[in-house]
Amino acid sequence: MILVTGGAGFIGANFILDWLRESDESVINLDKLTYAGNLENFLELAGDPRYAFVHGDIGNRALVEGLLLKHRPRAIINFAAESHVDRSIHGPGEFIETNIVGTFKLLEGVRVFFSAMSAAEKSAFRFLHVSTDEVYGSLSAIDPAFKENNPYQPNSPYSASKAASDHLVRAYHHTYGLPVLTTNCSNNYGPFQFPEKLIPLMIVNALAGKPLPVYGDGLQIRDWLYVADHCSALRTVLANGRLGEIYNIGGWNENTNLAIVHAICDLLDEMRPRDDGKAYSEQIAYVTDRPGHDRRYAIDAGKIKRDLGWRPQETFDTGIRKTVQWYLDNQDWVGNVQSGTYREWIEKNYGERVE
Ligand code: NAD
Ligand code: TYD
Repeated sequence: MILVTGGAGFIGANFILDWLRESDESVINLDKLTYAGNLENFLELAGDPRYAFVHGDIGNRALVEGLLLKHRPRAIINFAAESHVDRSIHGPGEFIETNIVGTFKLLEGVRVFFSAMSAAEKSAFRFLHVSTDEVYGSLSAIDPAFKENNPYQPNSPYSASKAASDHLVRAYHHTYGLPVLTTNCSNNYGPFQFPEKLIPLMIVNALAGKPLPVYGDGLQIRDWLYVADHCSALRTVLANGRLGEIYNIGGWNENTNLAIVHAICDLLDEMRPRDDGKAYSEQIAYVTDRPGHDRRYAIDAGKIKRDLGWRPQETFDTGIRKTVQWYLDNQDWVGNVQSGTYREWIEKNYGERVE
């Protein structure tokens, strides 16, 4: 069986659901259930004996070591993190706690577990650390895309905390021989993404008749990957990745935020036209930029293609259409995550931004 941490969030939930569609190997999901963790993502697994949920923190050594001893997973996939840049600007503390200290404590627990394994168990064991392209910093319009040997230049408390966790994972490989794999992926989108991130926020706000807040000039560039493609890349790296190696994962799909927002508006015009017949793009509102906003991220996903034969299946056109359709079909899910805490966040992040 495998242990997934942070599996109740956006990518972890997609990973678990896809995993159990593709294989019969059981999954334990260890998740703290922060605002971003949602057990409603697993309704289709009700009663499925291959899936178990454990409520807890990766930083809880006793809990983690007890789980490892009891279930003896052959792999751990670490998704657990605070993941939103804007939240890290308003309050970096939780990012340091979970992304750095939590990863450190998890690694310590895994080190103890690993050191007591038989040689056969050791050679089969894997610790896959899921990270981000944001650790590499910001690119100019003409810089080449990030490769695995790019220097780390994180600019936000979020990316700095993820960079620190990547360094710890690397150190546990070199110092203690822990069989680690690290992936650095570009911006994901798709089902179950919390509506604080660009794409779901724009879909949800558009349907609610609210402004679509574009930071600064909207010409910042991100590389967008459909979440199911990220999950298939993680399965590939877990199965065939070389120990201690880093793999960049991306969609070969750079675009400006403004182009993304327009693509969403155009799809909604087609799939759920406004009652007044006007275009959703009329709701676009330029607001004060994010402090320290990285201008461009771009991933060179050549290594994972050459070495492991992985490439994304979705284009942005196919992926964004599926995503918009999912949010149209799952408005109850959206309604349920828009709790009091969510409303407080919206007020905090957008309340003081000047249009
Ligand atoms: P998310 O915020 O949707 O989910 C994070 C999950 O981790 C939540 O379920 C939360 O409850 C859980 N969690 C938080 N702190 C925890 C703790 N201390 N112990 C146990 N569980 C805890 O994040 P996501 O978008 O699914 O991202 C998952 C991982 O992928 C993160 O490590 C993130 O840095 C990385 N990543 C995300 C993206 C992206 O575009 N979303 C891109 C590249 C990499
Ligand atoms: P986000 O989804 O927060 O991901 P990240 O900051 O990790 O790349 O933001 C994606 C881009 O969209 C980023 O350049 C910031 C921008 N953005 C907006 O313009 N408006 C918004 O309301 C949000 C949430 C993001």
